[in-house]
This record gives sequence, structure tokens and C-alpha cells, in this order.
Amino acid sequence: MTTHHATTASTTASTTASSTTTAAVVRTAGGPEAIDLVTLPAPVAGPGEVVVEVELAGVNPVDLATRSGFFHDIGVVPAGTPVGLGWEVVGTVSGTGTRVAALLPGLDRPVGGYADRVVVPGSDLAVVPDALSSEEAATLPLNGLTAAQLVDLAGDGAGRSLLVTGAAGAVGYYVLLLARASGFAITGLARQGDEELVARTGARLVTTLEGQQRRYDVVIDTAALVDPALDAVADGGTYLGVLPAVKPGGRPGITVDAVSVVPDGARLADLLRRTVAGELPARVAGVLPLADAAEAHRALEQGGVRGRYLLRP
Ligand SMILES: NC(=O)c1ccc[n+]([C@@H]2O[C@H](COP(=O)([O-])OP(=O)(O)OC[C@H]3O[C@@H](n4cnc5c(N)ncnc54)[C@H](OP(=O)(O)O)[C@@H]3O)[C@@H](O)[C@H]2O)c1
Repeated sequence: MTTHHATTASTTASTTASSTTTAAVVRTAGGPEAIDLVTLPAPVAGPGEVVVEVELAGVNPVDLATRSGFFHDIGVVPAGTPVGLGWEVVGTVSGTGTRVAALLPGLDRPVGGYADRVVVPGSDLAVVPDALSSEEAATLPLNGLTAAQLVDLAGDGAGRSLLVTGAAGAVGYYVLLLARASGFAITGLARQGDEELVARTGARLVTTLEGQQRRYDVVIDTAALVDPALDAVADGGTYLGVLPAVKPGGRPGITVDAVSVVPDGARLADLLRRTVAGELPARVAGVLPLADAAEAHRALEQGGVRGRYLLRP
């Protein structure tokens, strides 16, 4: 089914949907206990939008940063307004039942993906192939699109060397796989214990940048190490960060940029096809009820999680 069909069909849906939605929001930034379940009026789709009945929502570092007040502190989110959490969902288009995945960007908004119902622009949706479970598909929108857009920023591989920090992480692992497919000679910085995972991508593994003499044409710093990662860039090379709000200053002879992921339904559909083909394996850490969102935040905050936690409303 195309996005256009999804958009058309949703019009039927809004008349039958219930009049409220449950969402996890943060009223006052703080620890995981700051996450509140609230009942809100059901969202209504505008022109070109659909209502998606959420089946699963991914839990990502950006949600932890929002909940803990990072974006309040840098002035992106005003204090005192409830903020919705959640940047990615899999669910069904209200009225048609078509299974779709979507990236839901936005830091300052009343409802995100941690909800039982969200409104999504039709162009941001990708139909989930039958061969994928909803769990598998739910791990792709944020991490897959971010990785793909980072590799776009890196340019053509053509045998150039590329280092990914945080190579065992959700974004870093996909960057390695997509960068290799673009012709880069890839190296991953990951923890000891992640050797086998990184080896599966065909990358060379390093577990520290300390004392390393090697320099890389491109460094993609998904672990946000900043200075040691900048030091690893060769003259004339490129540093790509993942935190645009705190992009490091330039260094002579080095290009510095950061990704700001944007939705792209067609690209997401391609990434989902690549997951079906085994090129981008889905990585699921576990599935929890939406009411246990705080538990997923605690686990992710501790570190060492490999794969994504998913919330089921
Ligand atoms: N700007 C954007 O559009 C955008 C979009 C998506 C994500 N992001 C950001 O990208 C970053 C990565 O996201 P993610 O989902 O990939 O997070 P993740 O799954 O938690 O991965 C981060 C990885 O980095 C590893 N790591 C941290 N410090 C390390 C070190 N010193 N040496 C080796 N490995 C290290 C972590 O290992 P441990 O778990 O063992 O610590 C983890 O495997 C986050 O900051 C996120 O907010 C930005």
C-alpha cells in the first residue's frame, strides 16, 4: 500500500476512534519517576496526515535527555509545559489497519510516540513488510534513518577510512553496515565484550582511542566522545557528531558537522526492506508495557543495553 492510500483511508478512521488517548509525558524534568501517564483528547488528523494506533514505541537516548531536562537546560524546551516522549512507532493506520512505521521528530510537543494514538504526516510513513514482526520494525525508524543520514553526510566511501565510536550502539552499528555498503573501510570503537557483534559487520575493532596513531578520513562519533574523536580525524577529514545542539567548534583543516535526523517515509521503507534482506538486523532488547516506561529508562541510563527497549501501550 502506498502512503497516499494510507492518507485517504484514515479519513474514515477519525469518526470511529475513541475520544481520548493515553500518553507518557514529563511535566517536570527529572529522574525516570518524572514520567507520567496522562489522558488527553484523541488526536485528529489534519490534511495529509493519518492517525496511527500505536502498537510499539521505541525508547531512545533522546527520550532520556528530554526527561532529565537536557533540552530544558539548553533552552529548547520551556520549563513547566508537559512534554511528550517518544520518537518512533510501529502501529496500524486507523481505519485501514495497514501496519506502518514512522519517525516522530520533535522535542517540544504535548504527545510523542509513547502513546496509544499519534498523528503522522503520510509522507513520513513506511508500510511494514509482512516478513517483519512489529518488534523488528519498531527498532528501525530513528536509528536506521539517523545512520543513513550520517552516512549521506560522510559522502562517497571510495575506499576512504571511517571510524564509528559507539559501534555496538543502535545508531553506530547501522552506520558501520551502511558505510561499508557505501565503500568505506570501516573501523568501530566499542566496549570489550562487543567484539563479536562488531566483527559481524566486517569492521576492524578498537576498544580505546588512547595511544592510537591511526587517523581516519571520517569519524562518526555516535558515543559523543568529542575531543578524542576529533583527534582521530585526519587532516582534511570530517567529524560528524550526533548532538547538533552542542556541536563542537571547528578545528583547522577539519570539517565538523552533526546530524539532525529528519523523517523520510520512502527511505524508511528501503531500510525496512534491507532488514528483511538481512542487511540491517533488528536489535530488540525487550518489550515492556507503556506504564513501565520508567523501567526502560532506568535500564538504558545504566548503559550496557544492546538493542532497543520497546513500549506497548
Ligand atoms: N542528532 C540526531 O538526529 C540523533 C538521532 C539519533 C540518535 N542521536 C544520538 O546518538 C547517540 C547514540 O544513540 P544510540 O541510540 O546509538 O545510543 P546507544 O544505543 O546507547 O549507543 C551508544 C553506544 O556507545 C557506547 N559507548 C559510549 N561510550 C563509549 C566508549 N567510551 N567506548 C566505547 N563505546 C562507548 C555505548 O556503550 P555502553 O552502553 O556500554 O555505554 C553504546 O553501545 C545518542 O547520544 C543519541 O541521542 C542523535
